[in-house]
Amino acid sequence: MASLNSIVLNVLLYFVFLEAIIITSIIASLNSQEYDRIKNLPGQPKSPPISQFSGYITVNEDHGRALFYWFFEAQSESTRKPLLLWLNGGPGCSSIGYGAATEIGPLRVSKNGVGLEYNKHSWYKEANLLFVESPVGVGFSYTNTSSDLSQLNDEFVAEDAYNFLVNWLQRFPQFKNHDFFIAGESYAGHYLPQLAELVYDRNKLPTKYPNVNLKGFIVSMQHFYFKLDHINS
Ligand SMILES: *[C@@H]1O[C@H](CO)[C@@H](O)[C@H](O)[C@H]1NC(C)=O
Repeated sequence: MASLNSIVLNVLLYFVFLEAIIITSIIASLNSQEYDRIKNLPGQPKSPPISQFSGYITVNEDHGRALFYWFFEAQSESTRKPLLLWLNGGPGCSSIGYGAATEIGPLRVSKNGVGLEYNKHSWYKEANLLFVESPVGVGFSYTNTSSDLSQLNDEFVAEDAYNFLVNWLQRFPQFKNHDFFIAGESYAGHYLPQLAELVYDRNKLPTKYPNVNLKGFIVSMQHFYFKLDHINS
């Protein structure tokens, strides 16, 4: 009897311990995302309130590469709306300067750059919007290894974007199970399918990689292949 009791006790303790670890790690990530919270930007309209975050996600520790992001929670019911990663193209175009601040984000830079104005057509009405400046060298994204800048092919870019995504979800674990979409335009016609393929392939190796709940990708004004893209223009 005593031994059965002690087994039960051990099992109980084990679960309490496990729970404690899980709760601690959730609290830790909530804390680290709170560091990234933007309370207010200079020139931001007083209303509506906008839940936004920004910061760096390390994508390669050895070389010291980090990508800069700006994230907006969906205007309403953000806990059940999809997560959408937006990439501008270029190569070399800033997703912050274009996608977020002049196209689909809720805050656009106003004429002559004197402030911000609310964009009532923003996609944040339908999705949680994650803008990332990719690859390193674009906007605020950087590398501490200058030679990286001469190695930037599509494969390199997809690998960093994948690591960005996985590490960002680590910091914002409450979005891990949301439907996830990748969207973008122009040269992102190369970035998106390449990133989607990497996610798709790695989702098949669950012991090696975390699952990313990818549902699809959306490309506009795409550059897939120069001759075909310009056939009607
Ligand atoms: C890059 O170098 C700076 C200065 O040493 C350091 O503070 C920063 O953490 C490094 N970035 C990464 C991603 O390792």
